[in-house]
Amino acid sequence: MYYADDVVEEVRSRNDIVDVVSGYVKLQKKGSSYFGLCPFHHEKSPSFSVSPNKQMYYCFGCGAGGNVITFLMEYENYTFPEALKVLADRAGIELPKQEMSKEARAQADLKMTLLEINKLAANYFHYQLKQPQGRAGYEYLSKRCLSDDTIRHFGLGYSNKTSNDLYRYLKGKGYGDSILKESGLFTISERGTWDKFWNRVMFPIMDTNNRVIGFGGRVMGEGEPKYLNSPETKLFDKSRNLYGLNFARSTREKYFLICEGYMDVIAMHQAGFTNAVASLGTAFTTQHASLLKRYTSQVVLTYDSDDAGVKAALRAIPILKEVGISCKVLNMKPYKDPDEFIKNLGADAFRKRIDEAKNSFLFEIDILKRGYDLEDPEQKTNFHTAVAKKLLEFPDALERDNYIQAVSREQFINYQDLKQLVSRTAARLGPAWAETRQTAGYRGYTDSGGPSLAAVGAGERGAREETLYEQRGSLAAGGRTRGPGQRKREKDDGAKQSQRLLLTWLIEDPRLFDKIQGIITPDDFKDELYHTVAQMVFDGHAAGNLSPAGILNHFINDETQYKEAAALFNASLKDSLGSEEQKKAFSETVIKVRKNSLDEASRTAADIGQLQEIIKAQSALKTLHISFD
Ligand code: CTP
Ligand code: MN
Repeated sequence: MYYADDVVEEVRSRNDIVDVVSGYVKLQKKGSSYFGLCPFHHEKSPSFSVSPNKQMYYCFGCGAGGNVITFLMEYENYTFPEALKVLADRAGIELPKQEMSKEARAQADLKMTLLEINKLAANYFHYQLKQPQGRAGYEYLSKRCLSDDTIRHFGLGYSNKTSNDLYRYLKGKGYGDSILKESGLFTISERGTWDKFWNRVMFPIMDTNNRVIGFGGRVMGEGEPKYLNSPETKLFDKSRNLYGLNFARSTREKYFLICEGYMDVIAMHQAGFTNAVASLGTAFTTQHASLLKRYTSQVVLTYDSDDAGVKAALRAIPILKEVGISCKVLNMKPYKDPDEFIKNLGADAFRKRIDEAKNSFLFEIDILKRGYDLEDPEQKTNFHTAVAKKLLEFPDALERDNYIQAVSREQFINYQDLKQLVSRTAARLGPAWAETRQTAGYRGYTDSGGPSLAAVGAGERGAREETLYEQRGSLAAGGRTRGPGQRKREKDDGAKQSQRLLLTWLIEDPRLFDKIQGIITPDDFKDELYHTVAQMVFDGHAAGNLSPAGILNHFINDETQYKEAAALFNASLKDSLGSEEQKKAFSETVIKVRKNSLDEASRTAADIGQLQEIIKAQSALKTLHISFD
């Protein structure tokens, strides 16, 4: 949905952030800001700040940050239009009706109509369940131990045996064939139109806003296919929706449970585990992971205990890790899935299994072990080597050592021996790594004179196998101790840090704009996001309406960007610019930003004339003095 910038800005500026946040977090004034316990991560001492001047919040602990709109989006899990609506209501502002292009309008209308159809269908199926003709469906669900409350909560239903009564029902409501065809609920052929679902118990699939976007239907008893699902439609994209997320999103638990099927989600919710979601038989995708990441950073996998379930777990683990979700794996044995487990052993036993769920890495090692006959010394050695190689996934030496300890304990491998094997394996994968130890300045040492593992993780690069090989290649070719990419990255980080400091300073004390006049322009901020933000800061200052929270409006549709933008205004400064030390620090920051900009310009200079200009500017910078008088 699209709202004009000035509408968004009016809504934002008419809702004071301290007022709004105070409704959720207990705040205490400290200097010019308010502090409280961060609602976005667990902490004991307050590092969550709300600045009335900037109209922004920022957590120095977890980096959550933004303006009043993003606060509601994060806290309440609202979408942008939802948050805007709530804040507009709060301030008594009437939002303008949407202005859309004709095509956009038609698309929106189409989706709206499909949503209507789905809702009518869901209600229709649900209604049938309690009618005489739906008796078999109701009995089936009761036999599977679902209570009336649960059936209502999940909107379960029944599709009749007659093969086109839903079609007739919806036609009667005035819908035409072409839109009905798009709903995915019907099979349309020359010989006529039939309901896709008949004589099945029905599971409506809802999106996070509780709108029905598709259906699953199960045969009652044996039969193929066991489940029939809506095809992909304009509304329904399997790889982007998780069954049960509409309920799970408001859980108070820190973690989510991920399972395979409809009945698993429902059984878990009925037993009180309202944080369960399912990817519905399809493989867990990166999109699923990003969707989950909006709500949690921890999951427990509760996939089926059979081979397919194990395979699904092994596939999901790296996908989850990639987006920063840590995971554990629940042991379902001796039952097949959560539904069966809970039916047989009850909720308490299930909770206990959650508490005992296994760290995903240790789970992967367990599974790896299945491929070896440990009675055979050769295979046992191969297993140990494979374990050592896998341990190299951890780039951080300390973390890796924690896992070496855990694995040695669990697999009864002598700790020192395993540690040495890991070191040797690292060396074998990349001999040149050993030399990087000193330059890396990493905590690490060698036992037994072997090459240090500390080097393996130098920098933040993941030490997956391909990466190791890739690095080795570049080391051999360049004869350097560190990859050029890495050195550049560190320099970038330093340069960016200075740019963040400078932006924060300018926001906190706009008088400083005078000090940098003629020295710094927005063009000195090289990264695209930094440059965009700097331009807005400078323009805002020039126009006399500099508003950091307003600037954030521009990034609201991209969570990563607005967080990064929020961080630009919240580099940690030491109070105000009172002391000599602070003045010196400010001057140094200005010089660093400018120097970095010139250095970069010199690398991309088009001709010798331009280069001479740059060199002149570089030497002028050496004698630059910023006066504070
Ligand atoms: N599934 C599907 N089509 C099938 C079989 C399975 O779409 N023919 C999906 C369904 O979403 C199902 C999930 O995969 O919920 C897991 O399948 P399975 O383990 O076979 O079913 P259960 O969830 O155990 O279903 P039930 O308990 O009803 O047998
Ligand atoms: Mn089952």
